[in-house]
Amino acid sequence: MNAPLAVMAALEQEIGDLVARLHDTTTTHIAKRAYVHGFLTPASDAERQALIVCVARVGKVAAASTATTLIQHFGARAIVFIGLAGGLDAAQAVRVGDMVVATAVAQHDLDSSPLFPKNQIPLLGVTQLATDTALSARLVSAARDSTAGTAARVHEGLIISGDQFIHSAIAQTALQAAWPAALGVEMEGAAVGQVCFEHGVPFAIARTISDRADDQAHVDFPSFLTQVAAPRATALLKAFFR
Ligand code: ADE
Repeated sequence: MNAPLAVMAALEQEIGDLVARLHDTTTTHIAKRAYVHGFLTPASDAERQALIVCVARVGKVAAASTATTLIQHFGARAIVFIGLAGGLDAAQAVRVGDMVVATAVAQHDLDSSPLFPKNQIPLLGVTQLATDTALSARLVSAARDSTAGTAARVHEGLIISGDQFIHSAIAQTALQAAWPAALGVEMEGAAVGQVCFEHGVPFAIARTISDRADDQAHVDFPSFLTQVAAPRATALLKAFFR
C-alpha cells in the first residue's frame, strides 16, 4: 500500500466533509486523537491514494503531537494542514474570506533571547521554515478553483503561529511591526512545520481568513467557524483532490 498523505486541521469544522467522503476507513485512537485512514476512491481504483485524516485540536503542542504520530506511526509521506487564520498584513489586503497559502511559517511567540536570537528555533538555527513548493502550488490552484466567482482572493506568503488567539488591535499592531511580511496568524502551522522539517517530510498549509486578529476577532472567528469554515474546507479539499 502507498504511504498515506496526511490531512490535518485544528477543529472538526476546518476539515469539512473529508472524513465522510473516505472509502474503506480504519480509525485508530492514539493519545486522545482519532486518526482516520481511508481512500477517496473505491477499491476498484488500483492507483488510489491512501489518506490519513486527523483533527489535532488547538495550539502548537497539539499540532506537534499529531504531526509526530502522523509521521512516525502512520508513515505519512507529506502533511497538508487546513484551517482558519487571522488576517495580519498592515495594508489590510488580506480580508475576511480570503485564503492564504503559506510559503513559510514561523513561531511568533518563541523567544529564548538572549541565549538565542528571538524567534529562532533553539539549536536548529532557523526562524522561518519553508513549505513544500509543489504541494503549496497544488493548494493555491485548489484555493483559486474553490473560490472562483466569489470575492475571495488567494494570497501566498508568511504565516506566523503562536499559542495565543490574537484578538486586540494592540496585539495585532505589535505582530505587524515585528513581522511585516506576515499575512496571517494562527496557532498550529509552525509547529507542524518544525516537526516536518525535523523528519524531512514535506508540508503545506492553507488558511481561510476568519477575522482580522483585532478587537472584533473573538466575535468574527466563532461566527465564521460555524457558518463558513466547513463548506470552504469541503470545497478546497474537493478541488485539491480532483
Ligand atoms: N485563527 C483564526 N483567527 C486567529 C487569531 N485571531 N489568532 C490566532 N489564531 C487564529
